[in-house]
Amino acid sequence: MSKKPLILGIETSCDETAASIITESEQGKPIILSNVVSSQVNVHKEFGGVVPELAARSHIEKIDWIVQKAINDSGAKINEIDAIASTAGPGLIVCLSVGLSFGKAFSASLNKPFIAVNHLEGHALSPKLNSKLDYPYLLLLISGGHSQYLSVKNLGKYKRLGTTIDDAIGEAFDKTAKLLGIEFPGGPQIEILAKKGDSNRYNLPKPIFNKGGCNLSFAGLKTAILKISKDIKTDQEKFDLAASFQKTIIEILYKKTKIAFVEFEKLVKPKEKKFVVAGGVAANKEIRNMLNNLCIKESYEPIFPLIDICGDNAAMIAMVGLEKFKLKQFNNLNYPAKPRWPLDQDAKFLKGAGVKL
Ligand code: KG4
Ligand code: ZN
Repeated sequence: MSKKPLILGIETSCDETAASIITESEQGKPIILSNVVSSQVNVHKEFGGVVPELAARSHIEKIDWIVQKAINDSGAKINEIDAIASTAGPGLIVCLSVGLSFGKAFSASLNKPFIAVNHLEGHALSPKLNSKLDYPYLLLLISGGHSQYLSVKNLGKYKRLGTTIDDAIGEAFDKTAKLLGIEFPGGPQIEILAKKGDSNRYNLPKPIFNKGGCNLSFAGLKTAILKISKDIKTDQEKFDLAASFQKTIIEILYKKTKIAFVEFEKLVKPKEKKFVVAGGVAANKEIRNMLNNLCIKESYEPIFPLIDICGDNAAMIAMVGLEKFKLKQFNNLNYPAKPRWPLDQDAKFLKGAGVKL
């Protein structure tokens, strides 16, 4: 029986300091041995968003004991670790640098390979921690910073089919929450408030609904909510706006996902049609339900990460590390932090005023 790899993952790209150790079973099924996530929500709450300088300081203060805890919780000995995988981008450079430098130093001191991981690839592979998932597949990545449809051909092989031309979905949830007076990050709270509201009360716009393929846009929705929120007086109105907002997002994703299915099939001609939904917003149950039902209708297999693996964590970084370790895809210790690092490097930059769809 050969020794199975033990991979240490480290994540500090934004406001979560995280470390995890994973391995795999004799059958090649990934096993999470530990998964420690320390959120900085309380550090940034009063500012209504992530303050880079404070986030970096908090990572520096916590990284040692978070990694130590991940090792202790896993039951593994430090010298049994086979490789160290750190997020190298995309993200806030002052934050990325903390986990990246820590991972490199750890790798040098243990004399074990170092693997630089794209945070978005971590989300893309996150369902592999709980489901069997072979390439190719269609991915909907919905987080605080990204909203993209990608065809995933293999590890490191991505073709972007659609992206947001302005705000990310998570950002739209957080901004709507802020306008409703909910503390940052409000996305999960919107889902809770929406349960008590009438989703038909407010008719909200669906930008680029009938054009732009499976590209997305949410800025106009935010502007509409800003206007309505000024007249909101009662809790019921607040619940109704949360419900109407969530329903609008769901209608947009329903339509755009159908278009993405067609584009994916044209591009890949997959034998098995698999649809992965990952990123923080994939924790939203209403969005999950709608996409599940759509998959049933369109003969796709829906695949979601575990709820606590949707948000930022290091198990998904270790998952990419595990795949790269098996392929001996290691990196030098001079690997740079990359604030911008798209999964599809050839895709056109599609943000800002004047974007042609
Ligand atoms: O993937 P993630 O943890 O961080 C990024 O890489 O951006 O995603 C965080 C985003 C936040 O905008 C948060 O409000 C949103 O995911 N989010 C949700 C839910 N849970 C987290 N949005 C809607 N419904 C939820 N249940
Ligand atoms: Zn993320």
